[in-house]
Amino acid sequence: MEPIIRVQKLHKVYRVGREQVVALDNINLTVQKGQMICILGPSGSGKSTLLNQLAGLEKPTSGDVYIHKRRISAMTENQLAAFRQKHIGFIFQSYNLMPTMTALENVALPLMFRGMPVFKRNRLAADMLRKVDLADRMKHKPTEMSGGQQQRVGIARAFVARPSIVFADEPTGNLDTRTTYNVMKMIIEMTRQNNITFILVTHDAELAQYADRIITLLDGRVVGDKANLSMVDREGAEAAAEAADAARLERFQSLAGEDKPSDPPHEGESPPSKRPPAIDPRLAPSPSDEGEIELETH
Ligand SMILES: Nc1ncnc2c1ncn2[C@@H]1O[C@H](COP(=O)(O)OP(=O)(O)OP(=O)(O)O)[C@@H](O)[C@H]1O
Ligand SMILES: [Mg+2]
Repeated sequence: MEPIIRVQKLHKVYRVGREQVVALDNINLTVQKGQMICILGPSGSGKSTLLNQLAGLEKPTSGDVYIHKRRISAMTENQLAAFRQKHIGFIFQSYNLMPTMTALENVALPLMFRGMPVFKRNRLAADMLRKVDLADRMKHKPTEMSGGQQQRVGIARAFVARPSIVFADEPTGNLDTRTTYNVMKMIIEMTRQNNITFILVTHDAELAQYADRIITLLDGRVVGDKANLSMVDREGAEAAAEAADAARLERFQSLAGEDKPSDPPHEGESPPSKRPPAIDPRLAPSPSDEGEIELETH
């Protein structure tokens, strides 16, 4: 096995006024190429902070992150932006699709940042949309698609530039159990077919069952690290998803009488609250790097 990510003595301390928050406390990790990892932990345990350091979106307070043997914790912002474009894909909880663009244009965006000619990038984006079963939604804008369809566009966008690592922070947080299963299966098939390393961040122990290694965080520390037989490899996984749906419904019904929670989400729908930012920094190019990145032939 070949290590792709190495984390050494990683610390991240946030300072807010006079207070200090130790978000990551001495994290040491090695991730092998092609692994499907889940970083599992309760809210505030440091999952997103860890993902941000792994993807080079934030600098550690101390310690180091190496990807492909390169010390990304020491790179400049421009080097990081170029590195991310070449090696890293992201899938977001709220999809972060560009609202004025069609599905095809959204998927082609990372290729545009790489300077690929329009004809070629549209062809590759269309191929990816067919792979996520959206051949008939290419001209639709995000508001003209269901939550599950939008997330499939998000998946197509994350994989289109053939990254070596894909990061996903609560990618199915806005989806129902059935859609979650389909979306996760799609992600896993793509990572396996292309030997891509997949890092999933979630608070949901059920979702962690899709990974083949589960790393548990608590108060910024690794408190568990174990191998797992991925749910997609288990026989009867669909039946398990149905059982989980039924159990959730039962739980909801028993709660409904007690403290009247709001309606459960409809299939494939996302809550209306979150609006994506105009351009997410994880997707945007660094101006000085434009045109400098080598094109990959597909
Ligand atoms: N920019 C920041 N400034 C100050 N404190 C921060 C910042 N970002 C995160 N924190 C703190 O660091 C800790 C870890 O936060 P983080 O966002 O990594 O948690 P998380 O595990 O992703 O939680 P959730 O499941 O709610 O997304 C929390 O206590 C949080 O309040
Ligand atoms: Mg988080």
